Amino acid sequence: MHASTRTGPYDVLVIGGGIIGLVTAWRAAQRGLRTAVADPSPGGGAALVAAGMLAAVTELHYGEQALLALNLASARRYPDFTAELEEASGRDTGYRACGTLAVALDADDRAHLRELGAFQRRCGLEAEWLTGRECRRLEPMLAPGVQGGLRVDGDHQTDPRRLAAALLTACERAGVTLRRAAVARVLLDGDRAAGAELADGERIAAGQTVLAAGSHSARVAGLPDAVLPPVRPVKGQTLRLRIPEAYRPFLSRTVRAVVRGNPVYLVPRENGELVIGATTEELGWDTTVTAGGVYELLRDAHELVPGLTELPLAETSAGLRPGSPDNAPLLGPTDLPGLHLATGHHRNGVLLTPLTGDVMAEALTTGRLPEEARPFTPRRFAAPAGPRPASPVQEPSA
Ligand code: GLY
Repeated sequence: MHASTRTGPYDVLVIGGGIIGLVTAWRAAQRGLRTAVADPSPGGGAALVAAGMLAAVTELHYGEQALLALNLASARRYPDFTAELEEASGRDTGYRACGTLAVALDADDRAHLRELGAFQRRCGLEAEWLTGRECRRLEPMLAPGVQGGLRVDGDHQTDPRRLAAALLTACERAGVTLRRAAVARVLLDGDRAAGAELADGERIAAGQTVLAAGSHSARVAGLPDAVLPPVRPVKGQTLRLRIPEAYRPFLSRTVRAVVRGNPVYLVPRENGELVIGATTEELGWDTTVTAGGVYELLRDAHELVPGLTELPLAETSAGLRPGSPDNAPLLGPTDLPGLHLATGHHRNGVLLTPLTGDVMAEALTTGRLPEEARPFTPRRFAAPAGPRPASPVQEPSA
């Protein structure tokens, strides 16, 4: 492709082909919008590392009740979303309505978990306190020292790798154009976003541009600083073990705990994979799998489920969550006409995939965010009113 080649115009260009960009493109195409996705490796991104917990209740944090409402709204959509996506793509996504058990290993954990359970119930959530013996009756592989736990039957799992592959196929079948190239910069037409120029020189003109580049969203060139999303990379390392047939069922649901202050979770898939996650590291763009990360995950997981040291270790990986200042996503129109954001999902990208697709399609077709997503407008981080800094790149109409 030569420099200055132009394609389009599209109604929508999505920058970023991870699960958030793909679900946005799929839903936009279903609404009749001519849609393209630009990404050197669509179907990749942080989802390839994620464990895929749909943990609206067990990952509830104090002060995040607005995010809880969004997470619950997306969790409720998962069964129908999965059925529709599997039908559209002809692919299994690994969704499993298995529930979660959050356990305590010592008296301090136990006190903390009981407090969390009380908070969950005050928020109207279902979480049942179990004794250590009751926990082990549910999950016999748990360590004898487990002191008790919260049974949360509504927190399920999906397989993010299969989800990404299904979304990619669904996009292709819905007529989304996939441009397998990096974006060099967003194009502006006066004070509007107007598409993007790719690293190979192609210019893709679009009426609306969606920035959905995960942790890289703030690095995309061509945008005024005032609309760049305040997202940062938050590293997570995960491990994948294989459960041989003879050991199954090893665990029947997701099991998690906080071990000496470090959260650890074990997510058993139906296909015999056991995902252990995840570290949380603020180390910029580093995606090295470290001996320390692997050691800590195995050490903490071993305290929970001692028998896992018998299992083959199949894979180690590290990825970057797109962290935002309030741990919540940035969804919908920005102060730059024609530019939308779908980024900053931090720990909840997989969980929020169905809802993100729906609210972004609504914003792209009507210009407005649905009520439930309004607290997550990117404008909550906008600089105080004043003259906008000069645009770094001005492009003529494509
Ligand atoms: N939601 C799990 C994680 O981000 O580690």
